[in-house]
Amino acid sequence: MWQVGKVIDRTDWNERLFSLKIAVDIGPYLAGQFIKLAMSLQDKRVARAYSIINPPGSDYIEVLAVTVPDGQLSPALHLLQPGDVIDVSVPATGFLTLNELPQGEIQGRHLWLLATGTAVGPFLAILDTAEPWQRFEKIVLVYGARRADELAYFAKLQALAMQRPQFRFLPAITREEHPGMLHCRIPDGLASGSIERHAGISIAAADSQIMLCGNPGMIRDSISILTDRGLRKNLRRAPGQITTEKYW
Ligand SMILES: Cc1cc2nc3c(=O)[nH]c(=O)nc-3n(C[C@H](O)[C@H](O)[C@H](O)COP(=O)(O)OP(=O)(O)OC[C@H]3O[C@@H](n4cnc5c(N)ncnc54)[C@H](O)[C@@H]3O)c2cc1C
Ligand SMILES: NC(=O)c1ccc[n+]([C@@H]2O[C@H](COP(=O)([O-])OP(=O)(O)OC[C@H]3O[C@@H](n4cnc5c(N)ncnc54)[C@H](OP(=O)(O)O)[C@@H]3O)[C@@H](O)[C@H]2O)c1
Repeated sequence: MWQVGKVIDRTDWNERLFSLKIAVDIGPYLAGQFIKLAMSLQDKRVARAYSIINPPGSDYIEVLAVTVPDGQLSPALHLLQPGDVIDVSVPATGFLTLNELPQGEIQGRHLWLLATGTAVGPFLAILDTAEPWQRFEKIVLVYGARRADELAYFAKLQALAMQRPQFRFLPAITREEHPGMLHCRIPDGLASGSIERHAGISIAAADSQIMLCGNPGMIRDSISILTDRGLRKNLRRAPGQITTEKYW
């Protein structure tokens, strides 16, 4: 089912990366889920998935998107201005949510959130709810991007790290060096141990839950490193430690 949403605000993080606030009633959803946005472009309807980055409880949704050169929908989304309308699928769906993680003793003490690019979005929504802070002793967010100016919501995440001693925020930049930030792809930072060193805790099957989102290559290579270290994919029929969502 589709609802008509109205763009009420936009933020431009750089010339390609932007957030839209869309007034729409999508009903109940869980932090970490996504909707589809659809537009008619040259008489063809194009629909794509976008994570909701604000927590449940508002009368709007916020999405973070990047303009993919030669992409079908994202360049058109990039042109939207306040007052424009767009179709939004209801209800929201998706399994990159805390209720999919094992509960009780087997969940472990530490939550690791690993994202590339716009895929930080579902983790922003999760971090904006009370649940992860109640369920986990430590939470680490590793946010991979090409350059420091591609880290959307950087100030918000830095402020959260100052407020919450439980939280470690680790930006990982690949195409430039930046003081105070890791300079590596996420799988390389896992393999070398630099991510764990900067987090101040180790990843181990007994006490870690890992949520991975974004670039499928990052997810594939990270899973390979983590499974070599004894972690398993988290399935409903067989609880494990690795929960993923690929963006393409
Ligand atoms: C569950 C899910 C949630 C998603 N959430 C978001 C989101 O919150 N924000 C967002 O921008 N995109 C998100 N995407 C991707 C989104 O659906 C579109 O694919 C993207 O906006 C590009 O659309 P397009 O039609 O312009 O190009 P497409 O034809 O859909 O994609 C072309 C190519 O662009 C690259 N690409 C696509 N999306 C991204 C991306 N996000 N970052 C880097 N490269 C990309 C891939 O190489 C892909 O093959 C999500 C995808 C899935 C499956
Ligand atoms: N025209 C431009 O100047 C320009 C600039 C930026 C982005 N873009 C476009 O914008 C879109 C989104 O790009 P994006 O930078 O947000 O997303 P992205 O290409 O997925 O890159 C985000 C982060 O993921 C890393 N990554 C990529 N592949 C990986 C893999 N296999 N394993 C582990 N890490 C990996 C990247 O490292 P690496 O840096 O090592 O790849 C980068 O740090 C793309 O379509 C891109 O072409 C264009």
